[in-house]
Amino acid sequence: MIVQICVGSSCHLKGSEKLVELFQKAVEEHKLDNEVALAGSFCTGQCNRVGVTITIDDDVFTGITPENFNEFFNEHVLKVIEQERA
Ligand code: FES
Repeated sequence: MIVQICVGSSCHLKGSEKLVELFQKAVEEHKLDNEVALAGSFCTGQCNRVGVTITIDDDVFTGITPENFNEFFNEHVLKVIEQERA
């Protein structure tokens, strides 16, 4: 799974660095280093008013914040990986 966190100027202002940190921590905690590749991306043209844009494989998600990060990670990373393993 390739996770790209937008570091374009709009997302940067909305805290993409913090989300990179949260992602790195969560990937470590769940020992997903072999399954999740983290990368930055340029503006995907989806700047939302709240939060940061994150692309997972071919799906683009907007509005990710430190507050909804856990929910996002469970739903779009953990669950998907579990399904892939099943
Ligand atoms: S800066 Fe992130 S989508 Fe535009």
